[in-house]
Amino acid sequence: MKPPRKLHIKSYGCQMNVYDAQRMVDTMAADGFVETANADDADLVILNTCHIREKASEKVYSELGRLRVAREEAARNGRDMRIAVAGCVAQAEGGEIIRRAPVVDVVVGPQSYHHLPELLARASRDGKAIETEFPPLDKFGFLPQPKSAAIRARGISAFVTVQEGCDKFCTFCVVPYTRGAEVSRPVDKIVEDVKRLTDNGVRELTLIGQNVNAYHGEGPDGRAWPLGRLLHHLAEIPGIARLRYSTSHPRDVDDSLIEAHRDLPGLMPFVHLPVQSGSDRILAAMNRKHTVRDYVAVIERFRRVRQDIAFSSDFIVGFPGETEEDFSATLALVMQIGYAAAYSFKYSPRPGTPAAEMQEMVSASDMDERLVRLQELIDSQQSAFNRAAIGTTVDVLFERAARNPGQIVGRTAYLQPAHVMASPDIIGKVLPVRIESLERYSLLGELVPTPAASGATIASSPTTIGA
Ligand code: 5AD
Ligand code: SF4
Repeated sequence: MKPPRKLHIKSYGCQMNVYDAQRMVDTMAADGFVETANADDADLVILNTCHIREKASEKVYSELGRLRVAREEAARNGRDMRIAVAGCVAQAEGGEIIRRAPVVDVVVGPQSYHHLPELLARASRDGKAIETEFPPLDKFGFLPQPKSAAIRARGISAFVTVQEGCDKFCTFCVVPYTRGAEVSRPVDKIVEDVKRLTDNGVRELTLIGQNVNAYHGEGPDGRAWPLGRLLHHLAEIPGIARLRYSTSHPRDVDDSLIEAHRDLPGLMPFVHLPVQSGSDRILAAMNRKHTVRDYVAVIERFRRVRQDIAFSSDFIVGFPGETEEDFSATLALVMQIGYAAAYSFKYSPRPGTPAAEMQEMVSASDMDERLVRLQELIDSQQSAFNRAAIGTTVDVLFERAARNPGQIVGRTAYLQPAHVMASPDIIGKVLPVRIESLERYSLLGELVPTPAASGATIASSPTTIGA
């Protein structure tokens, strides 16, 4: 028997790329490949790329430079290394990638990676293969299912794509062009995937989509179900301790989602709700389709039904035309909301987006300075939020052995890592932990003894994507 061929996959960017990378591993496993952590001894290297900002996008070319050297070395040892570029840079740049980096054999967009085996065969035959179409048939029906061992090796927390693409067209964003129009998967397909995961030990699900709360997949009754209804349905599946979803758009928060937070103790009270800016003038130029007031009203709706709810967000500083006054409005909004965490980015013009044509660029030094001020404010809020946990008892879902011997690490409802000294059989369970101290971003504590400490109870966290 021939030894299995080795696959190395490197993923950049968002949670959906993490999910897609796993599905590519599953696809290639069906074709006889096993994963390796080392690119140098791989027969196939896939770069699963991100196009959201220029920096992310350029990383692929420096990595391809390194891979060219690795491929030459492999060839000297009589080994053939194949290189594929997948993900959003593949979608956006297509054949240009091969012109810039002739070492690449295959370019495959995010809607076509189920064709990878066939594309590799085509590249062997014809030299190169490129596929960046949005095929009319969706890839999910064609992807091989993960094996039990693969699910177990990935741990107790899993992503499930329920929705993909975006129709919002924020003027700075490439997602509508790289991931395409908004599509939702049918409820029964999602349920099938979820059952396979829970049968293999998964306890926490994060439903992902670039604009996840625009979800409107077909339910078993033939009607379009909103995200809240899907969450209600999934919460009934035995074995699920925690549900999360990401990333939401403020405009698409409907009553069903608010009701899900009101009714489902397993739905974690931590919502990633990007706002991007605290200035109505900039929000309009970004085509966000909401004002600051709308956003604050949405936050209040969540807070009314779940007092312990906390929020994270995304911010862009230095969008074209952003004045000091606009930026101050962003700081004021952050002060007003009070975030548990947030991501902030310098505006990066992306080819083909409307904002890339806008004049009035903010200077690099102003952008740098604004980013520092915003991040300082966000950090102080995050630290205060984390410190507030000290002395309280919180539910932790335990994930894995920590680096320190004897320690097990899990996450709180707010995705804070929490460490305790305990036996590994608590992995997969939700248990109360008395928090004693904070070390950087990690909480340290002790298990609180409970008579009903079981793994079966439903208890009352890569970058995020889209929206
Ligand atoms: N420049 C900077 N940040 C961006 N994002 C999206 N596009 C850009 C861009 N062109 C940020 C947004 C989004 C997050 C995923 O990435 O804040 O919510
Ligand atoms: Fe869609 Fe989000 Fe990009 Fe706006 S920022 S276009 S909502 S993915």
